[in-house]
Amino acid sequence: MTLRKTTLQRSLMTGACIAAMATTYATADQMPAERSLSGLQYELIGRGDIYSYRALDSYNQAPFLDALVSEGKLPPVSERLPAEPLVFSTAAMSDGLGEYGGVFRHVIGGRPEGFNWLAGQHQGWGGINMAVQECLVRQGPRWQVKAEDQSGPLPNLAKSWEWNAEMTELTMHLVEGIKWSDGDAFDTDDIAFWWNDNVENENVASRIQAGSFGGGAKLDVIDAYTFKFTFPSKQSNTVIEGLAYIQGCPGPSHVLKASHPTYNASATYDSYLNAMPADNVPYPVLGAWVPVEHKADEIVILRRNPYYWKVDEAGNQLPYINEMHFKLTTWDDRTTQALAGTGDWSNMENPGNYVEALKQSQDPNSPVSAKFGPRTLAWRIELNFAQNLAEGAYDKELRGLFRNTDFRAAMSHAIDRDAVGQALARGPFAYPYMGGFASGSPYYHAEATHYTPFDQGKAAELLAGLGLKDTDGNGVLNLPETGEDLVIDMTFKSQRTDDRKQVDAVTSQLAEVGIRVLPKSVDETSFDPMRNSGDFTAILQRANFILPTRETCGNLPVSDICPAFHLTGADGRDMMDFEVELADLVQKFGSTDDAAAQSQYADRMQTLLSQNYYNIGLIQVPAALLVNKRVKNAHPGTPVFMYEWAEDAVIRERLWVPADQQTEELLPGTIAEY
Ligand code: GLA
Repeated sequence: MTLRKTTLQRSLMTGACIAAMATTYATADQMPAERSLSGLQYELIGRGDIYSYRALDSYNQAPFLDALVSEGKLPPVSERLPAEPLVFSTAAMSDGLGEYGGVFRHVIGGRPEGFNWLAGQHQGWGGINMAVQECLVRQGPRWQVKAEDQSGPLPNLAKSWEWNAEMTELTMHLVEGIKWSDGDAFDTDDIAFWWNDNVENENVASRIQAGSFGGGAKLDVIDAYTFKFTFPSKQSNTVIEGLAYIQGCPGPSHVLKASHPTYNASATYDSYLNAMPADNVPYPVLGAWVPVEHKADEIVILRRNPYYWKVDEAGNQLPYINEMHFKLTTWDDRTTQALAGTGDWSNMENPGNYVEALKQSQDPNSPVSAKFGPRTLAWRIELNFAQNLAEGAYDKELRGLFRNTDFRAAMSHAIDRDAVGQALARGPFAYPYMGGFASGSPYYHAEATHYTPFDQGKAAELLAGLGLKDTDGNGVLNLPETGEDLVIDMTFKSQRTDDRKQVDAVTSQLAEVGIRVLPKSVDETSFDPMRNSGDFTAILQRANFILPTRETCGNLPVSDICPAFHLTGADGRDMMDFEVELADLVQKFGSTDDAAAQSQYADRMQTLLSQNYYNIGLIQVPAALLVNKRVKNAHPGTPVFMYEWAEDAVIRERLWVPADQQTEELLPGTIAEY
């Protein structure tokens, strides 16, 4: 941990701009003291201690694959693996080399939207996206890397990279000889398709947006395994974080090209989006497991990928576990089933069931134990700032109000965050959230955060100052221009009970200052397309902002078409001044590897975000990872969310279950047939 400088020291060091922030600190209310519930304990290791890439003398495979090889249905394992596979070090495994077989039982509340992740589709979250997608670099395991070795994300599909002296060109080298799960070669054809026909194609709602990566990188293919990004300005290793999950994950171009309008004159972008529909699995993937069956609202079953390109030090091809289930129920049920032992995993993240879950997990016979990490889960209200996209006089006036700092300050003061937290769970779980980085982020500093205490009087005063009056005596303020009642449609995900409870709490709190909230629930599958289209007034949702470089587009105005709560219309986008500064800070953050400088940029982001109520923060809570005790190699220090979600951080391809404790496979002896 580097020493945190006091505000005064920082302002002395960096001159006018930061000194101005220091003045603000002095007058602003300070964040109340926080009590961490984190009980995670672990040893930090070197960056190269987790895995490396090298050839081993010989390789082994899951025993049931032997028959498929002798029947000629699969080539021998050594031919399916790259010449230098990714090798996990035994020393970094908490339980050592594993045994093959068995099932890993996930339970999720999401539903697969489709498998064309290149076009922005998700597969239902809860770790299923990450089971099928592999990305150029990897963030999950970084929680275990010691500070002095933190030089950015870990390698994955890209095993190495180098910069030119000016840091304007980044050349990346793919692992040579990786194959898709159907045996097709993975190479720069897939990289060119990902970049040229998805990222750079404005008709495709790719997760990484053209222009957002390094301020507008260009990509050139050098050979089958080498490609180069050229940037318009100096960059740093930090920029590479944008190539981890969920942005830098290539799709099977040998399948997708046939449905893409650039390669097929009769294809449309709609048909391209649905080129790999959720109900027609399997599809070729690079991940450890291949989806082979999907029963709507019941289950997605995945079987081991016989071409997976990672091994252990004894040459055993990974994953150890043959089959993976995603039962399709609810997020709360994920925790219930983990506690009951019918599910193997939960990111315990629903405060509504914390008290009961903690009680149950303390029983020595409980199938799981619960350890909290830092507060990294945060909920917020996103107000739609795109006034020029609003239709009708009322919406235009409302969005105009949203763009007014005093209005946002009034909303923030009107919210009693302690009461919101207690409405979810009694106890010390929730801490007020003011937007920006959650307190568990390595970039969070309380002193850089502008705190808005609960103060209805102040809220009322600010609202009156904006000319808002209850002119018809119905208890709801009227807008000065249209004279209409001030009603905010608040969209939330119907499957998320904690979101619903917060909508309820906020609705009654805002009513007390004359703002009427109309809750609108949207099914989780339709939620992302709705949000991305910008067709909403306000959203209440959990949105974890931990790193400036992770899913930046969802949080900060780094490209014309993000974030969703401030889209660009035909006549451009009316950026608020602080948004311009935020976009600039993201570029500055990405152009340096100097941790102290990055910390200062992050502080400035935090101050801008909280002082301007860019989002109206609500509460932040810690989460606990629940893994069934029979599952080995689930490192006890794994945080639910840090650089990435725990499903990535725990490295599932290394998990195993002793043979005598394995549960029965639903599709034993099989692999995907295309
Ligand atoms: C959802 C869940 C999280 C986590 C992620 C993984 O958001 O709520 O706990 O499982 O999916 O993408």
